[in-house]
Amino acid sequence: MGEADEAFVQAIEHRPKLSVTEDEGIPLIDLSPLSFPNDANTKNIDDLVVEIGNACKKWGFFQVINHGAPLEKRQKVEDAMRKFFAQPLEEKRKVRKDEKKAVGYYDNEHTKNVRDWKEVFDFVADKRILMAASHEPEDKEVPETFNQWPDYPPELRESCEEYAREVEKLAYKLMELIALSLGLPASRFSSFFEDPTRSVRLNHYPPCPAPHLALGVGRHKDVGALTILAQDDVGGLEVKRKSDGEWVRIKPTSDAYIINVGDILQVWSNDVYESVEHRVTVNSEKERFSIPFFFSPPHCTMVKPLGELTNEQNPAKYRAYNLGKFLATRRQSNFKKLDVENIQISHFKVQELANELDGALSINKK
Ligand code: OGA
Ligand code: NI
Repeated sequence: MGEADEAFVQAIEHRPKLSVTEDEGIPLIDLSPLSFPNDANTKNIDDLVVEIGNACKKWGFFQVINHGAPLEKRQKVEDAMRKFFAQPLEEKRKVRKDEKKAVGYYDNEHTKNVRDWKEVFDFVADKRILMAASHEPEDKEVPETFNQWPDYPPELRESCEEYAREVEKLAYKLMELIALSLGLPASRFSSFFEDPTRSVRLNHYPPCPAPHLALGVGRHKDVGALTILAQDDVGGLEVKRKSDGEWVRIKPTSDAYIINVGDILQVWSNDVYESVEHRVTVNSEKERFSIPFFFSPPHCTMVKPLGELTNEQNPAKYRAYNLGKFLATRRQSNFKKLDVENIQISHFKVQELANELDGALSINKK
């Protein structure tokens, strides 16, 4: 990665503050009732469901401990990813992703059209990757692509695959708890996740000579249903606090996972839960590693508010959108700097449509 050239520089209003606000209020939730439901010392599942519901409403983010995913698998993948990223750029570029290869190594990602100070390695926990070929609604082509595993380190593939299997189990459990927290049957989301999309990203944020100008990842919301993130002890993930819009840092807790609501869950819940903006700050001394696991339904899903959560008084706030086409539109901006805002779920808001129509009508009246 080169010097802090202009492509990395954030607009003044998006630059990070150097003094950090660490928020103690981001809930830390103990999931032990899932592993020991009959233990008299643990809270019961109902209390856990209430805690999760409150966290999703108030923050859109929470950390979980005693989650049952073995630490050893996480350590293995962390060790392997350090070895992978420590290689020269030419080696890593052998598994580079591009417009045709959906996953692999990449060091030129832009978020909101500003380059991120990071390099990534993406893979999916599936045999193949099915993605809409383009954003054009008429284009029905869904080409298959595959993971690209590097030769070095040889253990990377197995450690990634094992890690993803463990985190996936946690993802299913969390979706059940979230369904219950919305007053739905625990299995309400299971039909969406019969053939889920499980993409995993290995993030490496190298030390940055200009941490006051650049970001590891610019502000964004996750597009999936749920994200399960492992971060190391360096810290840098900041969440936009819903109560006042302040950026607050999530304090690293060893062996915890950070969970956040993604756009799809926001739409399914008809805005009961919101996908909250977050970003990553970098620092001049320490490199940082993190591993988000993005859990989503298959690309062919039409995403729309759940019928049980809407009625005449509370109508659906979103029009249905096709997930594959949404992602294909979003992907365009990963490979080139665009001059327009990227596609967002807010573009499918029913209210927006009403406003647009109002606008059009008032123009006509003039
Ligand atoms: C992401 C993300 C946070 C982190 O990759 O979507 O938000 O701490 N990462 O790396
Ligand atoms: Ni994110």
